[in-house]
Amino acid sequence: MRIMGYLVFFLIALAFLCSSPTSATEVTYDGRAIIIDGQRRVLLSGSIHYPRSTPEMWPDLIQKAKDGGLDAIETYVFWDVHEPRRREYNFEGSNDIIRFIKTVQDAGLYVVLRIGPYVTAEWSYGGFPVWLHNMPGIQLRTDNEIYKNEMQIFTTLIVNMMKQEDLLAPQGGPIIITQIENEYGNVQSSYGEPGKKYLEWCAKMADSLNVGVPWIMCQQSDAPQPMINTCNGWYCDSFKPNRPNSPKMWTENWTGWFKAWGDRNPHRAAEDVAYSAARFFQEGGTFQNYYMYHGGTNFGRTAGGPYITTSYDYDAPLDEYGNLKQPKWGHLKLLHDALHSMENVLTHGDVTTTDFENGAKATIYTTTDGNSSCFLSNTNTTVDRTLNFQGNSYFVPAWSVSVLPDCKKEVYNTAKVNTQTSLMVKKPNMAEDEPEILNWTWRPEHVKDTLMGHGAFAATKLLEQISTTVDTSDYLWYMTSVKISKKDPAWSDQMILRVNTTGHVLHAFVNGKLIGSQYAQNGEYKFVFEAPVRIKPSLNHITLLSATVGLTNYGPYFDLVPAGIVGGPVQLVGKGNNTKDLSLNKWSYKIGLNGEHKELYSQNSPSGWFSNELVIFRPMSWYQTTFKAPLGEEPVVVDLKSMRKGNAWVNGQSIGRYWSNFTAPADGCNKCDYRGPYSPSKCTTGCGQPTQRWYHIPRSFLKTDQNTLTLFEEMGGNPTLVNFQTVTVGTACASVSEGDTLELSCQGDRTISKIEFASYGDAQGTCGSFEQGTCEADNILSLVQKECVGKMSCSIDVSDAVLGSSKCSNSPKRLVVQAIC
Ligand code: GAL
Repeated sequence: MRIMGYLVFFLIALAFLCSSPTSATEVTYDGRAIIIDGQRRVLLSGSIHYPRSTPEMWPDLIQKAKDGGLDAIETYVFWDVHEPRRREYNFEGSNDIIRFIKTVQDAGLYVVLRIGPYVTAEWSYGGFPVWLHNMPGIQLRTDNEIYKNEMQIFTTLIVNMMKQEDLLAPQGGPIIITQIENEYGNVQSSYGEPGKKYLEWCAKMADSLNVGVPWIMCQQSDAPQPMINTCNGWYCDSFKPNRPNSPKMWTENWTGWFKAWGDRNPHRAAEDVAYSAARFFQEGGTFQNYYMYHGGTNFGRTAGGPYITTSYDYDAPLDEYGNLKQPKWGHLKLLHDALHSMENVLTHGDVTTTDFENGAKATIYTTTDGNSSCFLSNTNTTVDRTLNFQGNSYFVPAWSVSVLPDCKKEVYNTAKVNTQTSLMVKKPNMAEDEPEILNWTWRPEHVKDTLMGHGAFAATKLLEQISTTVDTSDYLWYMTSVKISKKDPAWSDQMILRVNTTGHVLHAFVNGKLIGSQYAQNGEYKFVFEAPVRIKPSLNHITLLSATVGLTNYGPYFDLVPAGIVGGPVQLVGKGNNTKDLSLNKWSYKIGLNGEHKELYSQNSPSGWFSNELVIFRPMSWYQTTFKAPLGEEPVVVDLKSMRKGNAWVNGQSIGRYWSNFTAPADGCNKCDYRGPYSPSKCTTGCGQPTQRWYHIPRSFLKTDQNTLTLFEEMGGNPTLVNFQTVTVGTACASVSEGDTLELSCQGDRTISKIEFASYGDAQGTCGSFEQGTCEADNILSLVQKECVGKMSCSIDVSDAVLGSSKCSNSPKRLVVQAIC
């Protein structure tokens, strides 16, 4: 009996030990901060969206986020990838959200889970599965039972999955915050009273799921209890939550901006991101999330729109491929270190301020035990200040914040960047036996059927594209025929074909010939296509191919924004402006391309490719080549500059849409002054260049031996110039003032090969174009060469003792170095 008793005890103890090694974490909040296990916290978080990279990339991205001083990773949940068809679920590969969250947990970071399930995010249809659109009686994002039912089923599914895997904080998991809806407050008024009711329902529904962690709603000033309302934007220092017992939280500090085809490259300077973050903490904020920390790639047809690019780099601290974007990553890391060191004082201290006028002030946090931390801010956009504060003087440049964890020593100023700048380069790194010129095969997209008007179904009207395709393809063919006799008053052998379309791209064929293509420019998506056509005095076939380029993802009723030639009119205009309206003709329809149906991009692509006489610049063509992966571990990109528009696949996996001939405006790329409020048009590059030329091929898509690249080219391109490159640090520069330490590295396992420039004194210019100043110390180049060349990284204390005295008597001295990796 006794032995039995011991055995039972032993088994229970064993079961306990094996089952739940992690302990519960309690997450609450008060008016000051999120409270984790009884401690008020300063929390720094960053957005990484799991489907915008690959599971193989996740550990590295998350580790870099941790090394960058983050406490948490934020992600949305992307409903459309998880439930592509109603009640058919996908949580595989880069849709494996559980694996993603566990990877964050393994790195020791928290998770902020923004379930939405409407997400915006420049993601096609805002993350809603398009099948929702066609449910009879449904109205999205409002008080509609059909919609609410679907939303609740999906939200519950996600919460239950998290519970099942013990991923919520009270279960010992990493999820500390959950979000419902997304910025509904920005559009709510357009939905009237039902909008208000929907919002209240969202809050109740979410609350009923008993997640055991706080719920947030962003941009929702009337968020009902117990939802915490949070701020999104470039600056949130003046934001106030709607209840005194809610902490001041910033869910999206936009680290840059997204790009649409035809846009310039937006950049937001590290100084300005740091400034906005520091101002937020100065003004009592305690939770801040960078949107995006890693933007990544819109693979497949996930890009939102219309016209969002495949790259979602966002100018985030980690670039599209996962490289550190320097100085942004490092400059923010130093801010995070400073803020964390002040956690207790910032979350408990009493606040007093000293006004220095003209936009300058000191904010002093003091705890009852006498510790204090200070911020000195200068919000003036042009005037630098020297502030006398508690007996010391501090140089606070315009549009900057100094951080003084002990109110004496400035450890950080948002405008004084000591972190290296890394200029990335592309290198071929070709495998040894890889031929310089790729061997291409090609085949035409078989359009005979559609040019003859053979569709899969018909209607006597012009259908809306999204409802018709349910977004199973970008492409919808609209086909009709028109018999016209010489007696018809409109007839002439030269007529005008006029097509009114809601976009996004149109290719028009008449009697088997492509007569023109058009797409909307300047952010519009509707346009009118007009082209002269030869019309026979008999039967004529008119075939219109309409292509979507990402479905609208934002705005009131965004889900009802149409695409395609819905309603038209489609007209033939003839003699004396006599018009034949074809809109109510019998139209045949076909969804998608024949090549898509045959899966020409798949790894077992059917035969039928032509290997001799490559035809280039031919619209509606498929191209295929094999290639070896570039050597090394560095990220791989393919240069599609010589192509025009289409889709690309590597080993059967889509690397996204390409549209290389959509270029940014030739002008408007001005030299950037980070001072003053940011907007996406403020600091841009890439004028006159393709909006996106390089397309990311994640290493995990590649095999060690032979790989296949397949392109579908819609407008006619030249694949012979396509090439593969790796992305790596080319030049690393640093400019560090006396008293600090200069650190340089090639950010990987390569070594510094050359020092191109070195100066201790008053050198001028920026990375890539430094110039000697007027008062420099001697022999700096050889000193820096000795310290750095041949090493993966080097660090040099910037002082006269180490570098010898420069001849600059009064002006502040800097060690400036430009190195080649
Ligand atoms: C916000 C939205 C995000 C993203 C961002 C712009 O309004 O919540 O999902 O779309 O704008 O990048």
